[in-house]
Amino acid sequence: MMKKRYLVTAALPYANGPLHIGHLAGAYLPADIYVRYLRLMGKDVVFVCGSDEHGAAITVRARKDGVTPREIVDTYHTILRDTFQKIGIGFDIYHRTSAPLHHETSQDFFRTLLVNGQFDEKESDQYYDETAGQFLADRYITGTCPVCANLDAYGDQCEKCGSTLSPTQLINPRSTLSGATPVLRPTTHWYLKLDEHETWLREWINTGVAGGKQLHDPAAWKNHVIGQCNSWLEQGLQPRAMTRDLEWGVDVPPELPGAKGKKLYVWLDAPIGYISATKQWALDRGVNWELYWKNDDTALIHFIGKDNIVFHCLIFPAILKAHGEFILPVNVPANQFLNLEGNKISTSKNWAVWVHEYVNDLPGREDELRYNMIKNMPEQRDSEFTWKGFQESANTELVNNLAGFIHRVMVLTHKNYTGVVPAFDSSREFKSGWNAEEITTCDAELHRLHEKLDELGAEIERFNFREALRILMEISSAGNALLQFNEPWKAAKDDPELVKVALNLGLQYVAVLSVAMRPFLPFAAARLRQMLNLSPLDDHREWLDTLNDLAEGNPVLRPNHALNAAEHLFSRVPDDVIEAQIAKLQAAAQANQQAAPPSHPLVKETISYDDFAKLDIRTGTIIEAGRVEKADKLLRLTVDLGFEKRTIVSGIALHYQPEDIIGRQVIVLANLAPRTMRGIESQGMILMAEDAKGRLSFVRPEAAWPDGWAVK
Ligand code: 2FM
Ligand code: ZN
Repeated sequence: MMKKRYLVTAALPYANGPLHIGHLAGAYLPADIYVRYLRLMGKDVVFVCGSDEHGAAITVRARKDGVTPREIVDTYHTILRDTFQKIGIGFDIYHRTSAPLHHETSQDFFRTLLVNGQFDEKESDQYYDETAGQFLADRYITGTCPVCANLDAYGDQCEKCGSTLSPTQLINPRSTLSGATPVLRPTTHWYLKLDEHETWLREWINTGVAGGKQLHDPAAWKNHVIGQCNSWLEQGLQPRAMTRDLEWGVDVPPELPGAKGKKLYVWLDAPIGYISATKQWALDRGVNWELYWKNDDTALIHFIGKDNIVFHCLIFPAILKAHGEFILPVNVPANQFLNLEGNKISTSKNWAVWVHEYVNDLPGREDELRYNMIKNMPEQRDSEFTWKGFQESANTELVNNLAGFIHRVMVLTHKNYTGVVPAFDSSREFKSGWNAEEITTCDAELHRLHEKLDELGAEIERFNFREALRILMEISSAGNALLQFNEPWKAAKDDPELVKVALNLGLQYVAVLSVAMRPFLPFAAARLRQMLNLSPLDDHREWLDTLNDLAEGNPVLRPNHALNAAEHLFSRVPDDVIEAQIAKLQAAAQANQQAAPPSHPLVKETISYDDFAKLDIRTGTIIEAGRVEKADKLLRLTVDLGFEKRTIVSGIALHYQPEDIIGRQVIVLANLAPRTMRGIESQGMILMAEDAKGRLSFVRPEAAWPDGWAVK
């Protein structure tokens, strides 16, 4: 379904860290290829993106680095914007959600949803950190996963087993702000009545029909996207809070009662970021942004990774429909995940290839990375990047096949015809590049090129970028074969007409490649256009013009056109570069493991020396230890304080076996009021050190020490 106008979005990356190759392969490269192709087809297309600058992702990072959220987003917005530009992602605008225009747009959206009766205001209990004095975003709560018992699951998700969670499902919840156990407190929020959208969403996703109109072809959607949507729909959509108690984000429209201290949920404001980006783009050019969002002749397409499917296929469409004036996406061609050297890419483990580092370490090799990412794009299933694979694809496919072919034709043309495209007798037959046995003519060969270019474009339109890239390389291989079969280097003396026809056709292949390469390898395409002495592709109809020329049997490069000097489009990636990258990856992961900065609990309220002096802390030795019936965590200890023996019940049973600790020196809080646990009176407390994982360790004197003496 070709449309008149296209609005293409790529997921707004959180401005809390740099871009890695997984992001690139997931959303940005496919979007960029698609958009570049549409532009070359003469389509009216706007490609928007920007930094997602709100949400817990940002504030978590700011706390970790000890800076303000504003500093975090300013830093990473700049890094992200520059990285995209360097790797050739050609957005029409790279906006940001901290922009005032975005705040206004999001608030207006919220007001309209409210007027349209889309919200329920409801009070519910949410976790509150009394030490830090604030409500806790899901990401600020950790605890034990109820599914897999991972001790460090987050309030919204367990990263170990992948379960989606809500904070109240966590066992032993802890606040990451203070380490305190959070308490439930009532708070009021605006809930989108998502349940009321379930029926039409189900029909729209599965049939493409909404409001009685056929809006998309579900057969054009990826199976895994529809599958994920249906699995959410089967669980039933629940009303979802669209506001949060936060300090950083878009304010709930301040005129609303109860708005104070409330911010919009980041997954409400972020996708509206696509709209505000379009508005800014239109404002800068004096055009009407509404054409791109409120007109049935526009195709809206979201490029995202699979973790964003529910937001782009169910929640944002519900929001757009609930607003009432907006179009729905015609496709959401989400990709799966890219793995790296046998493991999942992980920011926290520093297992990633960072794009800003790549462009720095391998300057001028942007297209080599793009090529390998496209070749391994996780279109239907997870895929993998390896540095060896990267080297192999660059050296054999780009250097040997593509650059090798182009260089050969160029050099031979310079040698035989001083770099001018030779004219030839068009009735002259020769061996086709597609099959040595096939005797062909110029017309038939141009027709074949037309067919291939057309097929290639059709694959891009279907979001099959791997297949499209394969066809691109197939054209280059066929060009190589054309030379191989007709041997223009040998024929110069005996059959000058054959040399002319082979080189002329070879040059037609090269000219077609210069257009077809552009969406995938924009930097090399620009170099090639220069080599061919053709206008740089100005993103205007060149693909369409080339198709038309070929369809009419016209050559793309006319006879007598003068070429520039031959150059190698790509150079080999040497072993040492690859080895250095592999070593870097491993070193970074190792350094990260050693340094792994756990989030330390905040230091408690200051006390005076007198407060401290009230504690009577003594050295002691465990002389007996046993389990406590029906209490997994408790041990019953007898501790010798030198002047007396005490019974102490201690919660260390998960960490120490009773038989292992007899004779251990310990530090005892001796004047703690006695407490009865499981019927045993505990007369003091053993001091333990606790680490980030909740492991416990005895604290003891450096060397054997007499029992019963003060620790101060
Ligand atoms: O997952 C993410 O990185 C989000 N920042 C994507 C947001 S996409 C859109 F909705 F803005
Ligand atoms: Zn789990």
